[in-house]
Amino acid sequence: MAGHSGGIPENIIEDIISRNDIVSVVGQYVRFTKTSGQNQFALCPFHSEDTPSFSVSVSKQIYYCFGCHKGGNVIQFIMEVEKLSFIEALRLLAERAQITLPEPEDDALKKLSVQRDEIRDALLEAARYFYTSLNSDRGRGASEYLVKRKITPQTAKKFGLGYAPDEWEGLYRFLRQKGVRDETLQKCGLFTKSKKGGLIDLFRGRLMFPIFDPMGKIVAFGGRIMTDGTPKYINSPETDVYSKQRVLYGLNFAKTSKEKSLIIVEGYMDVISMHQAGVTNAVASLGTALTDRQLSLASRYAEEIVLFFDSDNAGRNAAIRSLKALMTRLNRPSGMNAKMSVGRVPDGKDPDQYIREHGPEAFRKVVAGALPVLDYLVEAAQAQSIEDGRFDARTFQSLACEYLSWESNAVLRERAAGTVADILKVSVASVLAEAKRAEDNERKSGTLEPLRTIKEQISAVPVEETNRATHQEIVLLCFLCENPEVFQDMPDKPIATDFSAGTMRTIANEMIAMLYKGFGGAAKLLELSEGKELNGRPARDLFSGILMKTKDIRDPQKLSRFVLDYLYRVREQVYTRRKKYLAVQIDGMAEGPDREASVNAFREVNDYLKYLREQIRELSN
Ligand code: CTP
Ligand code: MN
Repeated sequence: MAGHSGGIPENIIEDIISRNDIVSVVGQYVRFTKTSGQNQFALCPFHSEDTPSFSVSVSKQIYYCFGCHKGGNVIQFIMEVEKLSFIEALRLLAERAQITLPEPEDDALKKLSVQRDEIRDALLEAARYFYTSLNSDRGRGASEYLVKRKITPQTAKKFGLGYAPDEWEGLYRFLRQKGVRDETLQKCGLFTKSKKGGLIDLFRGRLMFPIFDPMGKIVAFGGRIMTDGTPKYINSPETDVYSKQRVLYGLNFAKTSKEKSLIIVEGYMDVISMHQAGVTNAVASLGTALTDRQLSLASRYAEEIVLFFDSDNAGRNAAIRSLKALMTRLNRPSGMNAKMSVGRVPDGKDPDQYIREHGPEAFRKVVAGALPVLDYLVEAAQAQSIEDGRFDARTFQSLACEYLSWESNAVLRERAAGTVADILKVSVASVLAEAKRAEDNERKSGTLEPLRTIKEQISAVPVEETNRATHQEIVLLCFLCENPEVFQDMPDKPIATDFSAGTMRTIANEMIAMLYKGFGGAAKLLELSEGKELNGRPARDLFSGILMKTKDIRDPQKLSRFVLDYLYRVREQVYTRRKKYLAVQIDGMAEGPDREASVNAFREVNDYLKYLREQIRELSN
């Protein structure tokens, strides 16, 4: 099946759907305020609205919003609301219903997943140890430090802050005593080898920040020294559960923020201060150059991304390097397609300092004043062109044109070129020409990857599949999945080619296979539609909209006739198209056996069409 189920058997998915009543699952996220027949209504969690148009069908076990037209089954609801993959959502719901998912078959995989769980458990124990230390006598210094940094106890608790006592083996002994295995101790990233070869605590005498994955599981730690000593921060190394490039600190909290943008800042303290001040859409890249992985991750959660870099010279240079790397990659990270801008905190402060001194409202103004990436780069070029207090136009020209050359979108490039031209008092054309030259030079020197030619880009787009389906065939499929027993009894069952080629046929084909195996239900059809597009929309949304409106027909005889009627109508459309196709073909053919075969086919199609029309007439009597 479509590759979403990760090899989980169909009956287990079925079980997970049936043991997680959609009303009670969705009810954990929204408040139902209205009931109408089998449907419960609430304010939509996916778009903002004043009157409830988000509905959940008790009988069909699906949801659909009549406002934003999003829909799906219980698994897909969890995917949307928790931003999880299909398999992750499945796991969450399995856990909720206390269903054990089969372990991955592969032994090596199984071992790794056990090991990863053990590491995560050890990290959680470690966090408890740090947390307890912070809130005990020996953590007094750390508590005072938090007071000095204006972090409230509630905030410290929310972010799970802790204190690593200044001991060589404090944590080591604690985890051993908890029964953590040697191998796990070695692999969890909390220890280093002493000269004698034993393990000693990596974090000593530091304020501890657990780093969470988007699900809220601890995957690593950062530890800050509480004096001016160095290094300021020590961070967990990469482990089986932690990849620095893929983590955004605070995303587990920010993902539930109502804002449509995500603010990416540099440090732990920035995120914590911002959340404390009510700016809940902040995450941190943790000081590294922002990676494309981080950007893609961010773009899964937000339509707009606002980046903050340190505003000193070093920070600005790092920002420029990061942006270049992101902009000039052949396959731009998907985040680059989100609306992306760069914020600048005044007076060289970082967001944490600024928010503490000026409050959240002032900071929101700073966010609102963020510049589109290219405008930011032009501004940066201006700042870099001040030498001995004087603006050097030559420096500016070469820097600005270089930065423009990183932008592959011609419209954006030209717009920014306008700004540069104004500053230099030259024509836009000459700025664009210089930018082009800068690009060619870079390409020659091999630092830029070659652009794909237009032709290569176009041929990558599939043109054959129109991916359109008629209303009638969509309704037919909806009725079929909702009434598996009708399908079983149909004298004439639908086949794949009754449906339009492309996505519609793929989904119909899979649904029919399911029906033969005895599986059905609206939720099943939506599961099969996952990740597919139909008529320019997510197939899931399209189907759930129709499913929400299909009537419950109780009389089985009436229902059978109704479904058969739909099948024949859909088939009539298909055969009418075939007839036309054959007619055109025959027209252009010379006499001979080929033409004769086509003529025979034409006659057969025509006869069958007549039969279909008779059936339709009879059924509607
Ligand atoms: N960082 C790090 N190691 C260092 C310095 C910095 O890993 N030696 C990372 C940390 O994730 C830190 C971020 O880079 O949060 C930003 O660094 P910096 O601005 O120097 O620290 P702040 O977060 O501002 O911390 P503080 O406000 O406590 O000085
Ligand atoms: Mn700071």
